[in-house]
Amino acid sequence: MEIKENYNTTLETQRLILATWQPNFVPKMFSNWASDPLVTKYLFWDPHKNQEETRQIVLNWMSEANYNWCIIDKELNEPVGSINVVRRNDINFNCEVGYCLSRKVWNKGYMTEALNKVLEFLFSEGFYKIELKHAIENAASGRVMQKAGMTLQGVSPAGCYVRGKFYDCNVYYILNPNMKVNRG
Ligand SMILES: CC(C)(COP(=O)(O)OP(=O)(O)OC[C@H]1O[C@@H](n2cnc3c(N)ncnc32)[C@H](O)[C@@H]1OP(=O)(O)O)[C@@H](O)C(=O)NCCC(=O)NCCS
Repeated sequence: MEIKENYNTTLETQRLILATWQPNFVPKMFSNWASDPLVTKYLFWDPHKNQEETRQIVLNWMSEANYNWCIIDKELNEPVGSINVVRRNDINFNCEVGYCLSRKVWNKGYMTEALNKVLEFLFSEGFYKIELKHAIENAASGRVMQKAGMTLQGVSPAGCYVRGKFYDCNVYYILNPNMKVNRG
């Protein structure tokens, strides 16, 4: 068993393109979501203060070997969010995925659409178990996990630290349906 590490793979769904990061995504990333305090309410990072901050992050991401996509809305033809692997354990073939989206496209099923595609791809890359967690009060994120067919694993007490406060989290998981494995 191995993780294939095809990091530069563009994915596509009906309404979205999941593109690998480019510097020209910076202005819309900044204005559409990274500068919005409501988007970052349950995220570990602060809203960006200026485009330069966003640019540095994008350049870092471009230099990293990671599964990390910019979500492009085909209709608007602009970046509206991100979805990426935020923790990875190759010994146990599992990883955790995180995501965020511009408020202007919330509640259209976009993140469920993106997550379904990313789960399918990460399974094809060789991961066996994928986990996601959300602050319990961030119910919309939990709903995305449910709609993507994930199962509630349990509660992680104080599992998320956000700006000086620990939140209890629901942890969801899904197992690779295509991988034949021994389970003890
Ligand atoms: C969480 C987030 C990614 C959801 O993206 P999205 O594209 O709007 O998600 P979807 O449209 O696929 O699904 C959202 C679901 O949550 C539901 N929902 C929205 N707000 C809700 C709320 N306050 N309470 C309960 N459910 C809510 C929607 O009705 C929808 O469910 P439904 O299809 O059964 O009606 C987006 O809100 C976001 O980026 N939030 C800020 C960043 C963040 O919190 N990231 C996750 C950290 S764990």
